[in-house]
Amino acid sequence: MCGIIAYKGKRPDAASLVLKGLKKLEYRGYDSWGVAVKTDLNIVIHKKIGKIGELNIGKLKLPTSHLAMAHSRWATHGGVTDKNAHPHASCGNRVVVIHNGIIENYLQLKKALIKKGHKFVSETDTEVAAHLIEENLKKYPGKIDKAIFRHEVQRSLEQFKGRYAFLVMSEDCDSIVAARRGSPLIIGKGHDGDYFIASDIPAFLDYTNEVMYLDDDEMVVIDGGHDFIDLKTGKEIKKRIVKIEWKAQEAEKGSFLHFMIKEIMEQKETIHRAINQNEKLMKKIADAINKAFGTYFIGCGTAGKVCIAASYLFSKICKKHVNVQFGSEFPNFQHFIKKNSLLVAVSQSGETADTLEAMEVAKKKGAKLLTIVNVEGSSMDRMADLSIHIKAGPEKAVASTKATTAQLAIVTLLAYACAGRLNEGKKLLIEAASQINDMLNPRYEKHILELAEKIKNVESMYVIGRGMNYPMALESAIKLQEVSYIHAEGFAGGELKHGPIALISKGTPCIALVANDETRSDVISNAIEIKARGGFIIGVSPRREEVFDYWIRVPDAGDASPIVNIIPVQILAYQLAVLRKNNPDMPRNLAKSVTVK
Ligand code: M6R
Repeated sequence: MCGIIAYKGKRPDAASLVLKGLKKLEYRGYDSWGVAVKTDLNIVIHKKIGKIGELNIGKLKLPTSHLAMAHSRWATHGGVTDKNAHPHASCGNRVVVIHNGIIENYLQLKKALIKKGHKFVSETDTEVAAHLIEENLKKYPGKIDKAIFRHEVQRSLEQFKGRYAFLVMSEDCDSIVAARRGSPLIIGKGHDGDYFIASDIPAFLDYTNEVMYLDDDEMVVIDGGHDFIDLKTGKEIKKRIVKIEWKAQEAEKGSFLHFMIKEIMEQKETIHRAINQNEKLMKKIADAINKAFGTYFIGCGTAGKVCIAASYLFSKICKKHVNVQFGSEFPNFQHFIKKNSLLVAVSQSGETADTLEAMEVAKKKGAKLLTIVNVEGSSMDRMADLSIHIKAGPEKAVASTKATTAQLAIVTLLAYACAGRLNEGKKLLIEAASQINDMLNPRYEKHILELAEKIKNVESMYVIGRGMNYPMALESAIKLQEVSYIHAEGFAGGELKHGPIALISKGTPCIALVANDETRSDVISNAIEIKARGGFIIGVSPRREEVFDYWIRVPDAGDASPIVNIIPVQILAYQLAVLRKNNPDMPRNLAKSVTVK
């Protein structure tokens, strides 16, 4: 969702530091952006709708300062306007806040504050926070020390219902306060009293890789040093400093035009990295799955499709039934959860609100929690009893690619581990990784580009698959929708004849995802049925089949077929986006990490 960053320290260029950091966070939200800069006299705010991407920071002529914070927005309450952009100030500009999340009871608080004379200028829920804190500070006219500031922010937070990550500044205090309930905030500790607070690590990775995690219902006051406070008990808490292994350049585009294509190409290495797991851990997890009274794979969006793929892989490889639900729907099935059930949360960010809620629900029922996650130290990583890190490195394009295939590799490996054939699974995936390395070459990209040129103006397209390629048909549709904005839908091949085939007319592109397994002949029959109604058949398949109007060759990868089959569709989606002049890294209406329900 929204991107947040703040800097407090000895450097005088706080404004430019946070704006540079914000550019790195823009994948989290890009409706509008804004910055607040604290000077000796006041707080200067600059905010604007649109993307921060190409902003010439120098041109803004922001004052020199040691304390600043910035925000990129993904609108929830109130349209995309300059006024609704963050930061938000109280009437007298005494208090300025930025926020990620939703204050559920903001209307009630707003009414009460209006009665007390507060004047609101935006339609956001966030603005109530600035006015409420100002109201609570009224009894301390003039400069305030950090203890008062902390106390009154804490008192104000107690009145909010909902999820949030807040940063608060006051023109009468040199400290900055951050608080969290449900939305991520990470503290970066630089050298020489430098501090960063951000919703994701790449925002400050150029300056430090030493971080402290703020947990739910915690607050931190930064003022040359740091004080962490448990909001429930009011007591100070000690935090461990964690060293992050990511390199700053991993979060850069390098010579690529977009992050999406860079991340697609990185799949030459990421599968290898993903499967390089501690054998003992894999066996321990396989044992937990084998012994659990019901295993539930939970994820949202693309991660949800990986969960569906897991159910096919487990059924085929280790003859085991696992349940699958989207995070947002899982609470409806909590009645089946027992103490010895196991919930497996799959996620790139580890911060998706719906998946986190599912974990909370399962935890309350006493179930064991496992996560398959990319971002180490994320909320899911810290909440789970056991974690498998997929090691894909920072994924910045909104459309997930390398994290998806790394997750697929892990669930495949786990299915093999549950069957007691871990080494066989590893061998299969190593072979797939080297096949992907051969596949991802400029000639391959060009072949897919020729197809993209042919179909770039279509209104709708369809994707079919069977068995473990059915979830990949669903995932293909998400990829095409997200970045090309072409209406796309994925179906189980056998389902088309029960209704959706009515949508096929002359020239409708239909991608058939084919594996060289027991589903091959049936999915080819389904493609023939579509062709008979005028459909243009694009085959993603190890073999050329007569029915294909366009063939994209993929290696014959056995049970790793979902991994190799999704990659050409990722490339096609990317190329369609570029040809249709869309920004594939920041698709309209979307945000990378969905931290609201
Ligand atoms: O960070 P997560 O994997 O938990 O995110 C879940 C979904 O929001 C995510 O997969 C989304 O569907 C992607 N934009 C798909 O490309």
